[in-house]
Amino acid sequence: MEETTNSTGIFAEMEELAAAIERDPAGMAGSWARWRGGCFDEVRVDYGSGMGDYIVALAAGNPETLFVGVERELFCIVKAARKAIDAGLANVVFVPSENRTLAGLFAPCELSRIYINFPTPYPHARDADKRLTHLDNLLECRGLLAQGGQLFLKTDSVALFDFARAQLDLAGYRIGWQTSDLRVERPEDPQTGYERRTIARGAKILALEAEPTGLSGTPEQTAALSLFDYLPEDLESLDYVPLDMERSVRSAIDAKRRVEEGRRRREGGR
Ligand SMILES: C[S@@+](CC[C@H](N)C(=O)[O-])C[C@H]1O[C@@H](n2cnc3c(N)ncnc32)[C@H](O)[C@@H]1O
Repeated sequence: MEETTNSTGIFAEMEELAAAIERDPAGMAGSWARWRGGCFDEVRVDYGSGMGDYIVALAAGNPETLFVGVERELFCIVKAARKAIDAGLANVVFVPSENRTLAGLFAPCELSRIYINFPTPYPHARDADKRLTHLDNLLECRGLLAQGGQLFLKTDSVALFDFARAQLDLAGYRIGWQTSDLRVERPEDPQTGYERRTIARGAKILALEAEPTGLSGTPEQTAALSLFDYLPEDLESLDYVPLDMERSVRSAIDAKRRVEEGRRRREGGR
């Protein structure tokens, strides 16, 4: 996503949109249900909320629930907060997350639901721990979910979905529901901004709901960490390349071609 406002402008805009932006989220840990004098039945988080379309749509239909969008990009926070204010909603707030985790922003068991919609894939193994669906992050989310709380994931990437299922299993979650075509199974689920772009390119949306179960000890990472390990060997056979993985799939295909051309040249020169 491209930044459209310079940083001075962004801070001025954030001041202007203070009604839907919390600048001291750590100070709210444990008391989000009473945010700005409200009395909410539950608190749900959209982790990596982007332009905010998803929780703004959900908040409109669930006034008794507080929706918190956690996002690291300030230009997204500004756009999302403006949507919430324009919609006249008092139950949605956006939080800039400088340290990239939910740790410290929420108290243990404070959340009834965590949505992770179209998380950034970081396809290479060296960046796997930056994925919101990485084991370490899922373990952290566990601690924040209330009894019966759930984690909800949507993606256009089969590779990321399969990686996430392996990580959820290690982190002691039970997958209660999953689909390989969310739009058919739950057409009422609001589309995120990113989701609309992937659907326009022909994506089928994969989704799941998972709930923490008993977990003894600290699980060890045993899954393959590169998303390429979850893709077919012949990348050119893919019918659909996930939007955020286009560049890395293209360079993997080019690299393989270069290796093959080099091999053919060497063999031809013999
Ligand atoms: C592909 S976009 C999806 C945005 C939105 N969920 C949607 O579906 O339209 C991924 C978003 O996650 C944000 N993000 C990635 N890692 C994050 C982190 N550790 N903490 C907060 N936001 C993060 C990115 O800045 C980006 O806005």
